[in-house]
Amino acid sequence: MKILVTGGAGFIGSHLVDKLVKLGHNVIIFDNLTKQVHPSGIPDYLNLKATFIRGDVRNKNKLKDVVKKVDAIYHFSAAVGVGQSQYEISKYVDVNIKGTANLLDILVNEKHRVKKVIVASSMSIYGEGMYKCKKCGKVKPEIRDYKNEKITSWEPLCPFCRGELKPIPTDEDTPLKSNSIYAITKKEQEEMSLLIGKTYGIPVVSLRFFNVYGPRQSLSNPYTGVCAIFLSRIKNNNPPVIFEDGLQTRDFIWVGDIVNACVLALQKEKANYQIFNVGSGKPVSIRKIAEVLIKLLNKDLKPEITYKFRKGDVRHCYADISKIKRKLGFKIETKLEDGLKKLINWSKKEKAEDKFKYAEKQLKEKGLVK
Ligand SMILES: NC(=O)c1ccc[n+]([C@@H]2O[C@H](COP(=O)([O-])OP(=O)(O)OC[C@H]3O[C@@H](n4cnc5c(N)ncnc54)[C@H](O)[C@@H]3O)[C@@H](O)[C@H]2O)c1
Ligand SMILES: [Zn+2]
Repeated sequence: MKILVTGGAGFIGSHLVDKLVKLGHNVIIFDNLTKQVHPSGIPDYLNLKATFIRGDVRNKNKLKDVVKKVDAIYHFSAAVGVGQSQYEISKYVDVNIKGTANLLDILVNEKHRVKKVIVASSMSIYGEGMYKCKKCGKVKPEIRDYKNEKITSWEPLCPFCRGELKPIPTDEDTPLKSNSIYAITKKEQEEMSLLIGKTYGIPVVSLRFFNVYGPRQSLSNPYTGVCAIFLSRIKNNNPPVIFEDGLQTRDFIWVGDIVNACVLALQKEKANYQIFNVGSGKPVSIRKIAEVLIKLLNKDLKPEITYKFRKGDVRHCYADISKIKRKLGFKIETKLEDGLKKLINWSKKEKAEDKFKYAEKQLKEKGLVK
């Protein structure tokens, strides 16, 4: 098959490209090599067996020429910084929503042979994950907001009885409460793609990725990827900086497992017009991640716990992955401890420019950290 991967020079896209080439597909990468992600231009890991086209999804004409040549599309290009999206609003809307709108316009109005479109959605569209209240059952709390009060607990409370909550897995039917412009753009992208797909009979699949980690995640981009940001700090002998108390949890998934899910979404007809969570199904605290990375790199550092709140951050969200397991036969192959070891091995040879303090300063100036 001839397959287009938008954003195929990026972290997840490039691993997917490698896998598709290995499976014998003819792959075209369409990527504008965003400076923030690719400070030194074309990444040296780019697969030479794939065709690389430098182009921007905001440029409909250029995109059109490529779409007309392919049988399937992975639409992965995006501006991906959650915090940054809160102050670069029109850029995020342009790249993520307008870029997707361009792709859909082409699919609807031009002659083509595309038989499947897979879009990269995100766990961020849920906002807080699902929780259980002893009295009220399954509940979904609002995004936390701390005004001037002294924070005595970071945990969200039950929206009905103000009682304590326990996080439980978040499934695809959980109501969406996007907490950033980035999340809103990802939600719109998903809805637009599924709607147009269903309307015109083009099979669309939306994959809601949780926190993906692995080699090639930019170590010099301080706006996204907590593992990569921590690694960059530690490699530069700086402590990883943690908001809140560090006991907030996320669901980390190895990039190779994400790639497997992407391939299943292409191969299986059962995936058509469906939304799937793609995570490990296991919550891990941010503090734990920082500690394990420090230990694996043998550094004498301690995470810097700020007890500060970054506006919009969720406390807990981890995936219920029963749907993708049941419908597509998905399995997690790489455990967190093995994945982190592989990540460390890769990072040893990588340059890492620690720009965290600069990104943090921007958030502070905008009043997004308290
Ligand atoms: N990494 C994660 O944890 C995660 C989680 C959820 C969802 N996602 C989604 O997965 C996809 C891939 O993310 P990633 O982590 O590989 O990010 P990445 O930044 O490494 O890759 C994105 C790629 O898109 C390209 N790009 C950006 N703007 C573009 C434009 N206007 N035109 C063409 N190309 C453009 C960039 O140059 C980059 O190579 C994104 O859609 C992202 O929203 C990622
Ligand atoms: Zn309750």
